[in-house]
Amino acid sequence: MKKIPVIIDVDTGIDDAIALLLAMSAEELDIKGITTVAGNQTIEKTTRNTLDVVEYFGRSDIPVARGYSKPLVREQIIAAYAHGESGLGTAVLPKAKKQAEALDAVSFIRKVLEESEEKITLVPTGPLTNIAILLLSYPHLKEKIEKIVLMGGGAYTGNSNAVAEFNILADPEAANVVFASGVNIVMCGLDVTLKAIITPDDIEKLLALNNKAGDFAAEAFKFYLEMYRKALNVSGCAVHDAVTIVYLTHPELIKTKPGTATVDIDGKYTYAGTVVDFTPWRDRSKDNALVGVDIDRDAFAQLVIDACKKY
Ligand code: BDR
Ligand code: CA
Repeated sequence: MKKIPVIIDVDTGIDDAIALLLAMSAEELDIKGITTVAGNQTIEKTTRNTLDVVEYFGRSDIPVARGYSKPLVREQIIAAYAHGESGLGTAVLPKAKKQAEALDAVSFIRKVLEESEEKITLVPTGPLTNIAILLLSYPHLKEKIEKIVLMGGGAYTGNSNAVAEFNILADPEAANVVFASGVNIVMCGLDVTLKAIITPDDIEKLLALNNKAGDFAAEAFKFYLEMYRKALNVSGCAVHDAVTIVYLTHPELIKTKPGTATVDIDGKYTYAGTVVDFTPWRDRSKDNALVGVDIDRDAFAQLVIDACKKY
């Protein structure tokens, strides 16, 4: 099988960690590297969590490069309310021995793209700071990028406020650069990721695996579930970032619609919102995104459980 070459850019994060678990166990993917960015927590913590996840699940062979610690323009925000003080809820992993690469994230991605003979898919699941700086600094490398499959935004809703999703709100100016870059985007935003739910029943199944991935995922989800229960009074949690990986490994499970997606960086009331034009009379030559709108929830949950079985 021809593997899909990817670089995953994360702000690990409970759902980023699950995305990494899925990716690292997927035969379909060739992970050229993982880069980190500040988002759910500070860059120190997201990098630490990423190194710990990668080593604990036996993939120290994958290089991890540390990225930007602050957004391009706005004040930094983090999401400790959703991911806890460490970023992984109440889950605790052994501290990895492996260190981050000497190269920073943007230089690392640049090097991999420059040296690659094939195009590479970028998979950002955090704020888009690293990716924006890469595209601004080395625009000629756009032709080395197959596409950007990202978790961010929402055509019809926000989660940080009425219009803004967290990853976009954490660095709207960076997101604007990426969406306007001309690189093809697959937007796994809230329209699809809020349907990628793990339930308490699924967590029972993870615990029943009685292995290290099942235990880790169940513990991390406990914190997430509690946040969803308190905020929304629902019994389940959305595993946003994992949708990007499932899009690559099992695209048949996700329904997408073509659209023209932009990020509002000027709006008084709509700052950091993603505006997606699906109107039939739009100029379709301007379409830059495939926007996720639905997912087979049961198959998604089964993939998460199956991935955990492998560890
Ligand atoms: C996104 O925000 C973060 O908290 C999650 O890791 C995910 O990437 C969901 O809005
Ligand atoms: Ca994330």
